[in-house]
Amino acid sequence: MKRVLSGVRPTGQLHLGNYCGAIRQFVDLQHSHELFIFIASYHALTTHSDPEALRASIRQVAIDYIAFGLDPAKVALYRQQDLPQVTELAWLLACQCPMYLSDKGVTYKDFQAKGLTANVGIYNYPILQAADILITDADLVPVGKDQVQNVEICRDLAGRFNHHYGQVFKLPEYRLADGAQVLPGIDGQKMSKSYDNIIDPFMDEKPLRKRLNKIKTDSTPMEDTKDPDACPVYQIFRAIAGVEDERTVQLATDYRAGGLGYGDAKKRLFELILDHFGPARARRAELMADPEQVEAILRDGAERAREVGTATVNRARAACGL
Ligand code: ADP
Ligand code: TRP
Repeated sequence: MKRVLSGVRPTGQLHLGNYCGAIRQFVDLQHSHELFIFIASYHALTTHSDPEALRASIRQVAIDYIAFGLDPAKVALYRQQDLPQVTELAWLLACQCPMYLSDKGVTYKDFQAKGLTANVGIYNYPILQAADILITDADLVPVGKDQVQNVEICRDLAGRFNHHYGQVFKLPEYRLADGAQVLPGIDGQKMSKSYDNIIDPFMDEKPLRKRLNKIKTDSTPMEDTKDPDACPVYQIFRAIAGVEDERTVQLATDYRAGGLGYGDAKKRLFELILDHFGPARARRAELMADPEQVEAILRDGAERAREVGTATVNRARAACGL
């Protein structure tokens, strides 16, 4: 069975973009692959330094992963800090990493382009991410487009290490979500935790309805025909339900026929979210009320990750002469 590794930074509430672009892929893969899914807490520290907020976000991401459908019986779900061996592996890799590889890192370059001073954590970010992947001997890394460079740097580092010390690491491949579409937020830009434009499918009904009403649409009058593909309401609907779903087909037909107002389309999206995420919303409420259960799941996941991870680090240490 092929092994899969992926993670997300605990830096805020997960949203429909994360779900459609990344998490749904993990949920599908768990039936045919061995999954290691982790909460990238060390990576969050590169940009987020409020301890209370970090603790809360780590807990929430764990709960939401499970609520979205990751089955702890099938998936090793763990916090990065529960596998601290990964920092040792990052060091061993750093010693094989020429500066120019880290210089290329997009996050680091973004900081520089904005005239901000990046910390060394940002600079070393791709090396730690490579260690996350290599420590589990993963075959496959499902990610969004923005993460492809990091997986490529990982392959480069693994190749250099193997070339110098002998065959220690497996070279992983990345895997993009089907369609790999970028989901728009309520303002029409890419939905992102950083833009205050997210839709959180776990919101209570009333604020959720209000939030959906804020999705930016144009001023085409109700009776006119409309292009569904140009409307974020339809784009979000299609991403959740799938293009072939009869409700999606109906919505597209009604847009093209004219006579459908955006208010009505938003109402259909509201109902779709309640329907599609109904089980997830219920599971989340149960997990929120049972922190012990979540803690036990994370402890189990960490044990499994340490079993695999310690063996990899020992192999790498021995190869280096340690
Ligand atoms: P954010 O931009 O909200 O901080 P992250 O960078 O933490 O999101 O992304 C976590 C995962 O979710 C990545 O694999 C990323 O590609 C995916 N993702 C984030 N936003 C979107 C979006 N709007 N559409 C599709 N996928 C997304
Ligand atoms: N950098 C990733 C993000 O911002 C999170 C991450 C850290 C990751 N380590 C990883 C993703 C290893 C995949 C594999 O989304």
